[in-house]
Amino acid sequence: MHKNKTNNELNTKLDAVSKSLKRSIKNLDSYTHVRGESLYVDDVNMRQGTFHAVVFDSPKAHGKIKHIDYSKAEALEGVIRIFSYKDIPGQNEIGGIIADEPLFAEKDVHFWGMPIALIVAKTEFIARKARGLIDIEIEDLPVITTAKEAKAKGSFINAPRSFSLGDSEKAFTNCDYIFEGETFSNGQEHLYIEAQGAYAEPMENGNIKITSSTQGPTAVQKTVARVLGVAMHKIEVDVTRLGGGFGGKEDQATPWAVMAALATYHLNQSVKLILNRHDDLRMTGKRHPYESTYKIGLSKDLKILAYEAEFLQNAGAAADLSPAVAERTLFHATNSYYVPNVEVTVASCRTNLPPNTAFRGFGGPQGMFVIESAIAKAAHEIGVHPRAIQEANLLDENDTFSYGQIAKKVEAKNSWNSAKSIYDLDALEQEVKDFNSNNSSFKKGIALMPICFGISFTNTPMNHARALVHIYLDGSVGISTAAVEMGQGVNTKMMQIAANVFSIPIEKIKIETTNTTRVANTSPSAASSTADLNGKATLMACNALVERLKLVASEDLNVSEKDITFKNEVIYVNDKKTDLTWTELISKAMLKRVALTENAHYATPEIHFDKTKEKGHPFAYHVYGTAITTVTVDCTRGTYEFDSVKIVHDYGKSMSEGIDLGQVEGALAQGIGWMTMEEIAYNEDGRLLSNALSTYKIPDIFSVPKDVEVIPVETQGHELAILKSKAVGEPPLMYGIGAYFAIQNAIKAFNPNYDLKFHAPMTPEKVLMGLYGNKK
Ligand code: MTE
Ligand code: HPA
Ligand code: MOS
Repeated sequence: MHKNKTNNELNTKLDAVSKSLKRSIKNLDSYTHVRGESLYVDDVNMRQGTFHAVVFDSPKAHGKIKHIDYSKAEALEGVIRIFSYKDIPGQNEIGGIIADEPLFAEKDVHFWGMPIALIVAKTEFIARKARGLIDIEIEDLPVITTAKEAKAKGSFINAPRSFSLGDSEKAFTNCDYIFEGETFSNGQEHLYIEAQGAYAEPMENGNIKITSSTQGPTAVQKTVARVLGVAMHKIEVDVTRLGGGFGGKEDQATPWAVMAALATYHLNQSVKLILNRHDDLRMTGKRHPYESTYKIGLSKDLKILAYEAEFLQNAGAAADLSPAVAERTLFHATNSYYVPNVEVTVASCRTNLPPNTAFRGFGGPQGMFVIESAIAKAAHEIGVHPRAIQEANLLDENDTFSYGQIAKKVEAKNSWNSAKSIYDLDALEQEVKDFNSNNSSFKKGIALMPICFGISFTNTPMNHARALVHIYLDGSVGISTAAVEMGQGVNTKMMQIAANVFSIPIEKIKIETTNTTRVANTSPSAASSTADLNGKATLMACNALVERLKLVASEDLNVSEKDITFKNEVIYVNDKKTDLTWTELISKAMLKRVALTENAHYATPEIHFDKTKEKGHPFAYHVYGTAITTVTVDCTRGTYEFDSVKIVHDYGKSMSEGIDLGQVEGALAQGIGWMTMEEIAYNEDGRLLSNALSTYKIPDIFSVPKDVEVIPVETQGHELAILKSKAVGEPPLMYGIGAYFAIQNAIKAFNPNYDLKFHAPMTPEKVLMGLYGNKK
């Protein structure tokens, strides 16, 4: 994959990377994944007589339900019962942040695909057949599908919010250049491989156990309890792993689990509800589309003096996580740049689409696309390369973010300059220039994309986790945390932490399922913070056990605790091996009746945020990096291929380089997909047109960049990152934004009069319009 490099520095770095990759631990799940033995909800061993459920959903985006006739469906052989809002013993309300979302529609429907009833039958096939027999009459109401329309009609989820720094209005009067414009970025389908689903089982005394494909087991437990009107302790939620979540199962795994539990509650029988792909695509929310306007002001030396933006977020029909997503847009509105005067506002607009939700980056990418657009526009008008403006404004140590946090351990310039020198940007740019002067029907474009992403839930109270660690009497270890494995490798990281502290082989450690009975009141696995929060709790629990065991060893060996260390399953005193092994020590501790279980709680220190002032220190730290993207556009067809994406990424001190590299590559591909080819389309009636994989295209092996290189930037990591290994789940998605601007630069090389448009995704159709139309 790597081409020959003349650059020695690069070769040395690549060597170092590949060496440490060899050393790095294998993802725990790779063995069962490859053999097809990994367990998902659909693999649960079903109890005898389990029923199957299918959701009946609205065939209109907005309207009044005049009449529903279930009689034909109910009469079908094998149909057990059909449940609607009338069967809910507690509250018909599942909104997490704002109570505005019914589980089942009552009198009105608010989006196409909104659940109305649950059909329970002996088989899924029968339930599906019954669905086709339900007659419904809906009186149409006006449908809103875009954020702009919603704003015009005053249809909002909550009050808009603004962050402000300095005085942008005044600063604009001192600018040499001012540009304004508008942008659009479309939604994105999560397309986790495992669709949404849950399996509910009746236990004794009305207790219910739910196996769910959720990032938020506690959210499921809490909502089931609310809808059934029972105490939370009656509900147990268990998660083995997810076949992907990407934010789509932070909140939106909940309704399906609640429905299955509702049926179990009434029927006292196990119920399985798994959406098929069509149902999942139609009924679930996606990344939020944003319509935004910006105003940017610069000095002659290309310093951004003022920046204003208004973000209109298409929230869909209910709040879901939209207000939190909107907040993160504001936090990332200036990306990795220091802008002294900022005024940014976001409005969550209520439309008749399925409620949009968390998606890798959580509103950050949408904010960053707008400032990158503003910079591209300014560069085009001034007649400089966008990177001149980017470079002139990179964040520095002790700069202030618009939300008041002071930037510390900033790697913006370090990663930018490293990318430039390691990958020899001058040579890359020269290659592009030469290519473009020698070719008329193909053009290349190059773009740089710096990122700065804040790590922590923006909602401070969510930043906590617990770990429950058992050492069994044979010396093997079981670890339960709130971490949900969804392919990101968090279980492997938990395992590494325990293996390091105890100094025992990983075969002696088991990462248990994520279960609300073992670890309670958890935050979802999200915000890229799962390894930090749960890892720190695991570290604390393991350390506490080691301290306790050292006391046992010191009594046994008659030495001071301070001199004891554990190494490869043996106890050492003053670095000298003793005859006491880990397993023997555990037996001795048992005889002495020492507790071999520890429960630790971690809450991120230092962070705080005051929403009344919109100021504080919300993030434990930031993750930085820079990507250089090169693309070749076929100027006859409008198609494009990415030649390479060359990244310098701030891992801190990665604890699992193989896993982290996988996260960077996967996020990059997902970001490129969002920016270039994934096109969600609803018609004006609010019906999803891109409702199958024939009409919704995600990057495949042929469309990902031919060459992806990722080199760690040399950094100290951060104390608040687990073992100084920085969070990696979401930040690299935003490298994908560079793909949009690389294509745009190629279009400019073909059509210098191109009137820049900032309307993502940059599909081949739009490329063609740019190449041949859109002239000023
Ligand atoms: N990687 C895989 N393979 N599958 C996923 O679903 N989710 C992403 C990211 N990487 C995801 C993934 C999202 S949206 C987040 S927030 C983080 O992983 C969550 O895990 P972490 O907190 O352990 O990084
Ligand atoms: N990121 C992801 N999920 C969240 C957040 C966040 O900042 N806040 C609430 N849920
Ligand atoms: Mo990720 S969008 O925080 O689940």
